[in-house]
Amino acid sequence: MWRMGSILWLLSSCPAAAEDYRVFEGHGGPVMAVAVSGDGSQLLTASFDYSVGVWQLADATRSVWLEGHRAAANAVTFLSDRLAASGGDDFAVIIWHVSERTVVHRLEGHQGKVTAVQASPDGEMLASASWDGTVRLWGVGSGAEVGVLVGHDGGVNDVVWTNEGRTILTASSDGTIVEWDVRSFRPIRTVVRHGFGVNRLEVDETRGWLAYGAVDGGTRVLDLRSGIELADITLDRRPILALAKDREGRQIAVGDGEGYIMVVSTENWKIIRDFQATVNGPIWALAFTGSGDAVIAGGISDEAVLWPLDGADGLPKMAELKRRFHTSPDELSNGERQFLRKCSVCHTLGASGDRRAGPALAGLFGRKAGSLKDYSYSEAIHESDIVWTEQTIDRLFELGADHYTPGSKMPMQRIVSAKDRADLIAFLKRETATAEGE
Ligand code: HEC
Repeated sequence: MWRMGSILWLLSSCPAAAEDYRVFEGHGGPVMAVAVSGDGSQLLTASFDYSVGVWQLADATRSVWLEGHRAAANAVTFLSDRLAASGGDDFAVIIWHVSERTVVHRLEGHQGKVTAVQASPDGEMLASASWDGTVRLWGVGSGAEVGVLVGHDGGVNDVVWTNEGRTILTASSDGTIVEWDVRSFRPIRTVVRHGFGVNRLEVDETRGWLAYGAVDGGTRVLDLRSGIELADITLDRRPILALAKDREGRQIAVGDGEGYIMVVSTENWKIIRDFQATVNGPIWALAFTGSGDAVIAGGISDEAVLWPLDGADGLPKMAELKRRFHTSPDELSNGERQFLRKCSVCHTLGASGDRRAGPALAGLFGRKAGSLKDYSYSEAIHESDIVWTEQTIDRLFELGADHYTPGSKMPMQRIVSAKDRADLIAFLKRETATAEGE
């Protein structure tokens, strides 16, 4: 039956469809967050490759990369048609001038990764949620910290402004959703006690509902004022990782750890669509297009995908993690296995960096640290005197980058076993030499 449906869809839809299936390709790591501009023409993507992509929604062409995070970018939002904000694993929030590709403000203060950013309704303030258990409020114009919301017993995963910017709702790993007074920075009430960590939150003040998704798969809708449950749309999939509502508030989309996207009508809270969007692996990010006819998702693969809701289940799924794990792990040498597991998500062996978070490793041995021209290194690496040899690479992973090259953008990663380090280095020596032909 479904086959027939999808063939009919293909036959009937091509020219007439409001939105066409589209892939936003170019990131060198999974896409953790997506956001659509107010006029519906642009898309922002925040990626594990440390960068934020800016795309034309209509044809999936990319305008610019915004580079400045020193670790994975997790959260992103438009502040106006010119400004955007992002948050990352580097604990930083960055306000960007989009077309000039410049950092307007780098907002530092969080002590844990930043999981969500949202502008106040008047656009003057930015709220950032963090795994340090706080939400920080910043002046968008000044870049100054305005206040901190302290009180959750766990990381904060999401934040939404309400009451024209007078109050804020936060969702936390401590299992609660709390309402805060923005002027006093004090909690007003606990709106939800779910028990399991709450990952995502959406609110429609006009229609008066709050929807949330949690670690245990719990997906519920409550009356915003009374707290009475309007619907329990929990399925047997978990965790819930992404939640979005369309502009009109007609539907919400839910993305989960098993790679499904479910679209639910807010009229009657019935499921309108439910389709598997990835072959395996999670959906981390979701947004509706301006028309609400399509969803854009980010997940395990290095791309964002736009699915028209009409016929979404007949369209290709998000690509599997390609290229990185062709071979079964048992057939690999230990050195290659070390590289695939611990390095390949951020580095290529060839001369092209392929937009991974780290520099290309071709020609690594004998190279001065921080010397590739087309890679933007941290000052710590750029100015270091290290030359990469068997000995220095061994030290890097014996001590960890945080000790050997403090201040670098490398993750704090140690390889404890001397044999694993030696095997990895032998593999790198072979593969990076042939790649460059030096
Ligand atoms: C999460 C991403 C990430 C992972 C995983 C990672 N790296 Fe890196 N690596 C980076 C980044 C980012 C830099 C640039 C550091 C800077 O500029 O401070 C870097 C720099 C390097 C450099 C210095 C290169 C140069 O041109 O100076 C080497 C060598 C290196 N990494 C090797 C490795 C190896 C080997 C592994 C696996 C054991 C690994 N890295 C895992 C992100 C990563």
